[in-house]
Amino acid sequence: MGTERENWSTRFGFLMAAAGSAVGLGNIWRFPYLAGANGGGAFLLIYLGFVFFIGATVMLAEFTVGRMTQKSAVGAYKSVSRNWTFAGIIGVLSAFLIMGFYPVVGGWATAYVFKSVTGLLSEPSAIPSAFGAFISDPVRPLAWMFLYMLFNIVIVIRGVGKGIETASKVLMPMLILLLFSVAGYGMTLPGAIEGFRFLFVPDFSAVTARTFLAALGQAFFSLSLGMGCMVTYGSYLAKDTKLASSAAIVTTMDTMFAITAGVAIFPALFAFGMEPTEGPGLVFVVVPQIFAQMGFIGPVLSMIFFIALMIAALTSSVSLLEVVVAYLIDEKKWPRKRAVITTSVVMLVFCTLASLSLGIWSNWTIPVLGVGFFDFFDILTDKVFLAIGGMLIAIFTGFRLKKEDLKREITNEGTVPFAIFELWYFLLKYVTPVAIGFVAFFGARAAAQPALMVFGFSFIAILALFSKKL
Ligand code: TRP
Repeated sequence: MGTERENWSTRFGFLMAAAGSAVGLGNIWRFPYLAGANGGGAFLLIYLGFVFFIGATVMLAEFTVGRMTQKSAVGAYKSVSRNWTFAGIIGVLSAFLIMGFYPVVGGWATAYVFKSVTGLLSEPSAIPSAFGAFISDPVRPLAWMFLYMLFNIVIVIRGVGKGIETASKVLMPMLILLLFSVAGYGMTLPGAIEGFRFLFVPDFSAVTARTFLAALGQAFFSLSLGMGCMVTYGSYLAKDTKLASSAAIVTTMDTMFAITAGVAIFPALFAFGMEPTEGPGLVFVVVPQIFAQMGFIGPVLSMIFFIALMIAALTSSVSLLEVVVAYLIDEKKWPRKRAVITTSVVMLVFCTLASLSLGIWSNWTIPVLGVGFFDFFDILTDKVFLAIGGMLIAIFTGFRLKKEDLKREITNEGTVPFAIFELWYFLLKYVTPVAIGFVAFFGARAAAQPALMVFGFSFIAILALFSKKL
């Protein structure tokens, strides 16, 4: 080993970076609208089941594989068996695809920081149409997206310790403070109890196979799993960092943030008599409307909320960018700077397509698949690639790696106890693949976009066939 691999400088720094990756748009933008559309409490319950039995299990596997191999997504698989290279490649592709829409929404959040205090809230009834007009504009959202992407580039170019870790150590505590103050305020509103009931009391009448796939996809998306992101972050870990407790902490923090986002939104939403089923526009349409009814403190709270959203998004998208960058550095021996710039340019092209697919191209869909670019990137990763990626890492770790090696890595050569190793191993090897198989199969059969599902699964199968050549 000639060149020294970059490392996190402290465990706290690593935890902030990993939690920063996990906590993002998935928690604050997507979780509330999914819960809203899927019946609230019932969705939360199914989601929590997936997070703690499958998500936490897979996260520990990803950290372990990353630190054991000292390699990022593709290299980790490839160094063990070339038959598995495809699984890493799917991860890198997923990073491109997620970054094909994530910065679009990150750009909206950035824009809304400013819009909050420049008159958006003065006309509450116009807020929904203002959102529609903004995201379908051919120029303005692109400009904000570029700005947002620029923040990412600046952080990732500086590297793992100086860039990602330093930024996360500052931004994550800020995020906690901001989001908790908004949630705290929402709880005090009269009528808030209705929102709590919606979020926490399960109503199973709205649950179908689709709900399960949505909850599973959301669990993977929210925890940054199933595409080698946590493998990559794990590869920068020092040998004495405790893996199992790190996975537990990151999983718990991520869950806390999703619930806090729900508490920031639903009680206020019900207090002001609005509907939870708004869809992807939920935080951009409902939240400003809520704040608009709060008098002069409204714009300030709204600005705080969207700064929090932007920060959360930023510490996540840098991790997605890093997956590709680490691949190019590790496997293609590119210098970091070149890797960051090239990757970002490609991502910006994807994002431009995604953004325009919500506006001037909104009537056009990809032939056969029947969805626009934004939905293509979003649905393909969330409903197919991440779940299958999670299944693959579980099978790979459970069946391809040696049990003793895993145990040695997780217990830091036997120096830290991991009492539930056997349980974890069983969950990983048998429960996770079977559960994902079931949910993916029945969920895809019931999916609203069958052609896209078939496309996704076939794509993975073809890559698998050619794995040795990748
Ligand atoms: N977890 C992030 C969120 O909830 C998004 C994200 C970052 C991600 N890295 C990832 C999703 C890797 C899947 C895989 O917003």
